[in-house]
Amino acid sequence: MNKELKLAIETAEEAGAILLQYYGTNLDVSIKDNNTPVSNADIAANNFIIEKLSANFPYPILSEESADNQDRLHSYKIWIVDPLDGTRDFIGKTGEFAIEIALVQTGEPILGVVYAPVTKELFWAEKGRGAYRKTDAGVQTLKVSKIDSFSEARFTIPTLSPEQISAMEDMGAKNRTRVGSIALKMCRIAQGEYEAYFFPTSRTAEWDDCGAGVILTEAGGALSDLFGKPLLYNQLSAKRTRGIVASNGALHGEILKRVSSIAKERYEMLN
Ligand code: IPD
Ligand code: CA
Ligand code: CA
Repeated sequence: MNKELKLAIETAEEAGAILLQYYGTNLDVSIKDNNTPVSNADIAANNFIIEKLSANFPYPILSEESADNQDRLHSYKIWIVDPLDGTRDFIGKTGEFAIEIALVQTGEPILGVVYAPVTKELFWAEKGRGAYRKTDAGVQTLKVSKIDSFSEARFTIPTLSPEQISAMEDMGAKNRTRVGSIALKMCRIAQGEYEAYFFPTSRTAEWDDCGAGVILTEAGGALSDLFGKPLLYNQLSAKRTRGIVASNGALHGEILKRVSSIAKERYEMLN
């Protein structure tokens, strides 16, 4: 196994153990400028991850919970980190949260790791080498589902407003299950449990989809913005301003068609 991948896996698992020390305890939570919560658990996991990655492969790090040092823009390789994807679910104790670490080389994600500490599920992928999931039961190769009929598609969704639910009904997305953590949603599609996820807003960023994106695409899935363009990494602004669509690949074109027809009027819109 590549040394960077080994480090990313070890780091994610150890950060998971740190998060579990905080899980279910009385957390210190504050609300950030973008109106999302951050807790002392996010910060503890972030400090650990930054220190461990820097001590071994000191590439610049783009992390949700660290100040953005834009030296990264000129670096051949960078780490992209979400120390706790699913802070709301962590606080709400649903178990659906994960640590996400990716390595990006000249703008291309080349490895991704997602670790869900409560279920002890480890997902990883390296570009060109397939995607895998390890649990106490063993290791499995990940493959997306073959479902290609929109009416059969299983959507994994965030918490939606009544208006957003009605927009999904209008586009014919009937089968919907809420899963916390964008990274886990994408890994569940990689596993073949769901077919699609989309988020037509500007409220996600590179760290939400980078590691899980390698896992999804190596499992045969597809990832793009709402207009079908590839997602870009190590950009001046890490914010996704054109939404995201993740799917099993077979349904990607149909989803893009239906999403664009409702996005403007019915969903919260892109800027
Ligand atoms: C969030 C989680 C959540 C999703 C939000 C993300 P965070 O990331 O993935 O499930 O619905 O859009 O921003 O803030 O918990 O790292
Ligand atoms: Ca996140
Ligand atoms: Ca986070």
